[in-house]
Amino acid sequence: MSFTVRAPAKINLHLGVGARREDGYHPLRTVYQAIGLYDDVTVFRSDRWRVAVEPIGDVDVSEVPLDESNIAIEAGKLLAAHHGQVLVAGIEINKGIPVAGGMAGGSADAAAALVGLDRLWDLGTSDDDMLAIAAELGSDVPFALLGGTALGTGRGELVEPVLDNGDWWWLAITSTEGLSTAAVYREYDSLGLGDVPEVPMALLSALADGDVDDLADALSNDLLAPALTLRPALAEILQAGLDAGALATLLSGSGPTCLCLCRDQGHALATKQSLLDDGFTAVLGAPGPVAGAHLVEYA
Ligand code: C5P
Repeated sequence: MSFTVRAPAKINLHLGVGARREDGYHPLRTVYQAIGLYDDVTVFRSDRWRVAVEPIGDVDVSEVPLDESNIAIEAGKLLAAHHGQVLVAGIEINKGIPVAGGMAGGSADAAAALVGLDRLWDLGTSDDDMLAIAAELGSDVPFALLGGTALGTGRGELVEPVLDNGDWWWLAITSTEGLSTAAVYREYDSLGLGDVPEVPMALLSALADGDVDDLADALSNDLLAPALTLRPALAEILQAGLDAGALATLLSGSGPTCLCLCRDQGHALATKQSLLDDGFTAVLGAPGPVAGAHLVEYA
């Protein structure tokens, strides 16, 4: 018996970061969106924990751990413990989300593992318990369960859907070398920035209206400055996106993936071609919003 669960990448349309808390995390006010880049996670019965990772397309999976430190196994252990049981399983991850790209690929794997293993083990875990277990695994994991477009507060783990009437067309320009989220936050601390800003009403209105020009004006990311300090070349990539015709460009989470917002499908394809002509090779088209972790196949 096996179950395959698909979980999406996330981007942050607004990422407002406050000063470091005592527990080391940063208070966030963010608007997440799930976009159409996916990891497919298959879980199956096994006599011990095992995990295998296969790339989809050009994704570099060499940095993904293949032992019990893999977050999908951590998710399984936590789910079993929640039910007072010791259970094991085999996990295969087909990875389409860039690793260490600021798109929460590890969080997607954790969310997908929770959904798949809940079925494999026939646990019937409630949605609220799934969200609580997800929050223990990582700040972005609850959103990977929820999907769509959502407000994130706390350290990002408290999520609630927001009205989004748009069909958004994104391009993701990926980098061959990842950036450590923890390192970007440390750099953010050294900039001495202050209170966590509110999510701008203009962003929520743009989403509710499905107005792409207003959305282009409302995108923002407080982690851009520290990411640029660590990786100055990101500025050129963001500018290249604008030069290629994007309505706006945005750093995805802690980076280094750079996003281009496009007007519609035709504009996205033309912008992608322009980037390819410019010498970029890793440009992925991804619509948003899309669903959170969901079962796509069982056998
Ligand atoms: O929660 P998660 O394990 O995904 O976070 C990875 C790292 O990112 C944390 O160890 C922390 O350094 C940083 N982080 C943070 N504030 C947040 C979320 C993440 O400092 N709100």
